[in-house]
Amino acid sequence: MKIAIIGAGSVGRALGRAWLGAGHELSFGVRDPADPKHRELRESVGKAAGVTAVPAAAAAAEAVVLATPWPATRAAIEAAGDLSGKLVLDCTNPLAPDLSGLTLGHETSGGEQVAAWAPGASVFKAFNSTGFNIMAAPVVDGRRAVMLYCGDDDSRREVVAQLVSDVGFEAVDAGRLAAARLLEPFALLWISLAHRQGLGRDVAFALLRR
Ligand SMILES: NC(=O)c1ccc[n+]([C@@H]2O[C@H](COP(=O)([O-])OP(=O)(O)OC[C@H]3O[C@@H](n4cnc5c(N)ncnc54)[C@H](OP(=O)(O)O)[C@@H]3O)[C@@H](O)[C@H]2O)c1
Repeated sequence: MKIAIIGAGSVGRALGRAWLGAGHELSFGVRDPADPKHRELRESVGKAAGVTAVPAAAAAAEAVVLATPWPATRAAIEAAGDLSGKLVLDCTNPLAPDLSGLTLGHETSGGEQVAAWAPGASVFKAFNSTGFNIMAAPVVDGRRAVMLYCGDDDSRREVVAQLVSDVGFEAVDAGRLAAARLLEPFALLWISLAHRQGLGRDVAFALLRR
């Protein structure tokens, strides 16, 4: 699948490396492709992935992944251009600057806000609820960590599940996009456990079944 990752930071790179390993066609959409800070990324992905301007990366892609800080996400979507008909995976969390809470929730979510900013796109919340270090290595002590995702487009559920599995997670469908109201506080729980409660970043959630 042709995937554009907007935001070549910790999350974008972890997902990008996993999807390259799974055989997807990848490009990173960055604000200024000529900026020397992207040299290391170019060297690490080699010819396997492009590092291009956001509009070009998004236009060529079937799936657009948002891995930007929340305050930059609206601008990133606007720069991406017309996303109608495309799959959009929203990995963002609308975090307060000190990570103490979310800047929206209860009656809406970052995922639903993204859908409003990208009319006609098929928006799924995914890859928001665990750390980028877990995304880089989702098997913990022999068990796959769970990745919950949600979205409204039933025709895209299988492909989202496949993209989640391709990263190495157990993919679990959490339902409609409004479930992002649950997945975003769930991310905050991971952040709190990792950073405030002293568990550290090498913890992941798994789903037990009987
Ligand atoms: N870190 C985690 O473990 C984790 C886990 C789950 C979800 N998340 C969420 O995922 C998102 C990304 O987190 P991160 O840790 O990967 O952040 P990060 O390392 O700071 O990377 C963010 C990237 O977005 C780029 N960016 C900013 N504005 C942009 C724009 N308008 N267009 C294109 N690119 C833009 C930044 O580029 P510049 O360097 O040029 O600013 C940077 O490369 C956040 O919403 C976060 O809450 C993070």
